[in-house]
Amino acid sequence: MNDEIRIAVIGLGYVGLPLARLFATKYPVVGFDINKTRVDQLKNGHDRTLEVDDEILQAVLVTSRTADKSGLYCSSLIEDIAHCNYYIITVPTPIDKNNRPDLNPLYKSSETVGTVLKERDIVIYESTVYPGATEEECVPVLEKFSGLQFNEGFFVGYSPERINPGDKEHTVEKILKVTAGSTPEIGVKVDALYKNVITAGTHLAPTIKVAEAAKVIENSQRDINIAFVNELAKIFNKMDINTHDVLEAAATKWNFLPFKPGLVGGHCIGVDPYYLAQKAEEVGYHPEIILAGRRLNDTMGKYVASEVIKLMVQHDLKIKGANILVLGITFKEDCPDVRNTKVVDVVRELQEYGSKITIYDPLASPEEVAHEYGLETIQTLPTQKYDAVILTVAHAPFLSIDLNTLKNEGAVVYDVKGVLNDVDGKL
Ligand SMILES: NC(=O)c1ccc[n+]([C@@H]2O[C@H](COP(=O)([O-])OP(=O)(O)OC[C@H]3O[C@@H](n4cnc5c(N)ncnc54)[C@H](O)[C@@H]3O)[C@@H](O)[C@H]2O)c1
Repeated sequence: MNDEIRIAVIGLGYVGLPLARLFATKYPVVGFDINKTRVDQLKNGHDRTLEVDDEILQAVLVTSRTADKSGLYCSSLIEDIAHCNYYIITVPTPIDKNNRPDLNPLYKSSETVGTVLKERDIVIYESTVYPGATEEECVPVLEKFSGLQFNEGFFVGYSPERINPGDKEHTVEKILKVTAGSTPEIGVKVDALYKNVITAGTHLAPTIKVAEAAKVIENSQRDINIAFVNELAKIFNKMDINTHDVLEAAATKWNFLPFKPGLVGGHCIGVDPYYLAQKAEEVGYHPEIILAGRRLNDTMGKYVASEVIKLMVQHDLKIKGANILVLGITFKEDCPDVRNTKVVDVVRELQEYGSKITIYDPLASPEEVAHEYGLETIQTLPTQKYDAVILTVAHAPFLSIDLNTLKNEGAVVYDVKGVLNDVDGKL
């Protein structure tokens, strides 16, 4: 163990906790979060995001802060991170109601770190941002609160996170990590730090801006590609052609990209392109493709609802007062995260037609959904029958449900994810 490295991970969410746990296998790590409930849950050995299994978390937890033994100590007290020399910031980077980047969590966490920053410390940002944000927005806050000078008193790095929540195969150590530093020497140091724990290896980018840009375009590229297949789905549905059959046939060519249509929610793919778009506007370029992709993907919830309504009319079902079961409210499969889920758009649109919606999701927290969206969800499969069943999220347990037990006579089954057989409609 290297006894000169003492790491603080700031923000113990989907990104921060797996990273803190991984570093804690080799270094003394303090996981810091302003959410005391989250810290208490972690101290008790449970991760409600399900990204780190309880036994794996418990294996690294330590009950008192140490500077010379590996392990993870969780805290919401600033004094507990004062002795560290590497600060890794993994706080959220959301958008506001006008789709503009909201950098407040980055400013606040930079303030916190600034107050404890010491000569030669390194602050590494992992949050997804637009190119330039680390040096233009975060560094001045660090300078102001530490009284130290950038690249003299303290240094900065950037290493974007690429994890895929709910994915138990591509875990943090198995994903090659891009790294960068505010000077060439610091780049090498930051890269070496990650190399020690990331088994997939690292890629040292020439500058922080390059690393920031690389991350934001990864997600923007996915967004645009999904928008393209969503557009295809809209076209092919009008022509009565099964989009999934078309994609399967096209994918037999070696260079065809296998994207699928769907609802693009969450806080990455549906958010990050707005960061890039904002910066593009700032430098005098109006992004067309990036924003067109966003617009198209943001309309898919309404589109799904209208397709279901059409099918119900064709089945002579009364829409007003119809009982509709929605399977899944999270933004993606096998993950409890409900932030920015586009299933809500489907539900709201159907509610406007006067249909009664039941949402079944065994993974989502009913309290969180009620708090975020004012919607009720249930965690056990209902026993009543419905006029329509919509599979919106492909959680593993949904794939073995016998939908016949949930259908009224003539009921419609609609599959947003293209994973069910024998359905009336697919996206
Ligand atoms: N979740 C993903 O799949 C994913 C993947 C790659 C990159 N990212 C990026 O990583 C960043 C973090 O995302 P996340 O999903 O882990 O977010 P998250 O909301 O799950 O976790 C963030 C944590 O930071 C804490 N926090 C907020 N402000 C803080 C502050 N000032 N000081 C200390 N703690 C603070 C919150 O309480 C929360 O526990 C974002 O920029 C996101 O875009 C996320």
